[in-house]
Amino acid sequence: MGGREATMVLMDENGKRCDGRTVDEPRRIMIKAGGLKNADGSSYIEFGDNKILVGVFGPRDVHPKHMSDTDTGILRVRYHMEPFSVGERKNPAPSRREIEISKVIKEALEPAVMLEKFPRTAVDVFIEVLQADGGTRCAALTAASVALADAGIPMRDMVAAIAAGKVADTVILDVNNEEDQAGQADMPIGYMPNLEKITLLQLDGVLTPEEYKKCIQVGVDGCKLVYELQKKALNDKYFGNKGD
Ligand code: CDP
Repeated sequence: MGGREATMVLMDENGKRCDGRTVDEPRRIMIKAGGLKNADGSSYIEFGDNKILVGVFGPRDVHPKHMSDTDTGILRVRYHMEPFSVGERKNPAPSRREIEISKVIKEALEPAVMLEKFPRTAVDVFIEVLQADGGTRCAALTAASVALADAGIPMRDMVAAIAAGKVADTVILDVNNEEDQAGQADMPIGYMPNLEKITLLQLDGVLTPEEYKKCIQVGVDGCKLVYELQKKALNDKYFGNKGD
């Protein structure tokens, strides 16, 4: 973020972005509910060139037991990047970045999941990033929400996510890797579309107050598009005879 490759053309004179998209055009998004037979719920997402698999287990006993809560269930999230998921091999040891992303995804999902119905138990969400191309936390959060629903975990709403951002002084939807590296701002947003509540908001970069408001608006509109695809994934599995 912040012009590390200032010479790169992120937007041409026709307003087309480096991958040919218009300013408010998301990348191609494909979500599949189910797929992992040993998980209680699962999903797979392709979000542009991001490819991410999610497995959900639980509600189940908590080990070690002292981590359990007598009043409510707990949510545990592990976001993990495969060493081969990025151009330069990633060290397999958990990085600070993976620990941070696990935490923000957990906190973004908690308002949606009715954990209070399952005291003393844990719901575990395992996220495997097979291929990364910018925006993995949003793609992972979107897929995790589908996997939780697939596991039959009661939820108040889905959480849909996408990033807004700024390149060439223009607010854009769905920041790709080049735009993340060389652009001016990246703002991941997680949103519950029925409750109209934001559960994830981060900002890397600098925005004016007007740009900030526009990013929120563009991002929330993008989340509503993502939500339609989440519903489609679940409908395809449970009502479309296309699932497992
Ligand atoms: O993926 P997301 O945008 O949520 O998180 P980020 O920390 O802003 O990372 C942006 C992108 O940098 C990732 O999606 C990867 O494509 C890339 N990356 C990488 O090439 N090598 C890493 N060790 C970590 C991230």
